[in-house]
Amino acid sequence: MEKIDNLLDKIVSLCKRRGFVYPSAEIYGGFAGFWDYGPYGLALKNNIKQLWWKMFVMDRDDMYGVDAAQITKHEVLQASGHVSGFSDPLADGSRFNTMFRTSAGAGEETATAYLRPETAQGIFTNFKNIIDSFHPSLPFGIAQIGKAFRNEISPRDFIFRAREFEQMEVEYFVKPDGWREAFGLWQKKMHEWIDAVGIDAKKVYELEVTDNERAHYSKRTIDFEFDFPFGRKELYGLAYRTDYDLSNHAKASGVELSYLDEETKTKITPHVIEPSLGVDRTVLAVLCSAYTEDEMNGEPRIVLKLKPAIAPVKVAVFPLLKNKPELVKKAREIFRDLKISIGAVVFDDNGNIGKRYRRQDEIGTPFCVTVDFDSLEKGDVTVRARDTGKQERIPLPDLSAELKKRLG
Ligand code: GAP
Repeated sequence: MEKIDNLLDKIVSLCKRRGFVYPSAEIYGGFAGFWDYGPYGLALKNNIKQLWWKMFVMDRDDMYGVDAAQITKHEVLQASGHVSGFSDPLADGSRFNTMFRTSAGAGEETATAYLRPETAQGIFTNFKNIIDSFHPSLPFGIAQIGKAFRNEISPRDFIFRAREFEQMEVEYFVKPDGWREAFGLWQKKMHEWIDAVGIDAKKVYELEVTDNERAHYSKRTIDFEFDFPFGRKELYGLAYRTDYDLSNHAKASGVELSYLDEETKTKITPHVIEPSLGVDRTVLAVLCSAYTEDEMNGEPRIVLKLKPAIAPVKVAVFPLLKNKPELVKKAREIFRDLKISIGAVVFDDNGNIGKRYRRQDEIGTPFCVTVDFDSLEKGDVTVRARDTGKQERIPLPDLSAELKKRLG
């Protein structure tokens, strides 16, 4: 594919113009490292998280979900090594802990706490709960999607490096000698995910992270890097965390965090494989992969070639002309029906048809349905496909099923 000049600027501008992502507190001059998602960005993000939850949790029988508190007790992050080790170097050579510190409670009861820097710790601290409630057998995993917070020294590159962001993480517990196999399986799964979500696989590279660059808890890490417009940078991580977290939490809390191996009747501390995926970096990589400039009917256009599964709007319905009540009435009827069967459907009667197509192309809507005078007579509509511009007439009784089939 051709390289697009100033791609990041174009994406940032599209995101603001079309209601995907806005600078946070913009009316006060913005707030470095913080971003607000608008209606289409929120829909895109929700669709991404839903697809991930389906592929990494719901389609499997060895996964458990949790939604742990975001404000985390001091002791948890002390045991995990974050209080002493989660820091970045400052220009003068000193180190700066990038956790946001806060406190819980008032007066004598005040306790130091932190906004969690990764969702992972809320998984480890619930390991025993999941074992006690569900008695899973190894290997099994616990998954969580949620916010993480890091007081990054230099937030930059739009939503790539933010101070508040979201993660989709799995901690997958295995017998100590099973880590290599599990590592390989999750590595494969991450490539499947990259394809499914619509990230250009040709721009993804695996980087074996060297001993001295790995996080304090890891014995092996592969970074999945992506060719962002600002360079090849980390998109996701896959780490072998050994028994580091469970062992440290067991030691610090005095609570046994082990697993009884029924075969050998021995207690073991499981080892952990962790696929960790940033939601916001996914959004950015998806947008970079989908953003296309081409020509249609002799006119330049911008189109987001999003996978239908994650497109914020699946179908747009138009009456050919705004000032013909019979067309508007029919289009409204079709819109209401499709909204019930498909969900993310919009109605648009603003401006000429060409303009409406271009507006939908820019937000990645896979199909536009137009109601014209023939529709009233023959009971069919024009369905126009985003990527090819190809139009065909579909009888109304088949419309919903046909669109659903094409949306996949
Ligand atoms: N639990 C492991 C962990 O948190 P990490 O490599 O520090 O590992 C995992 O973060 C993922 O979270 C990254 O690969 C990236 O997708 C996302 N991420 C990390 N820091 C981020 C930031 N400042 N802004 C946006 N996403 C971030």
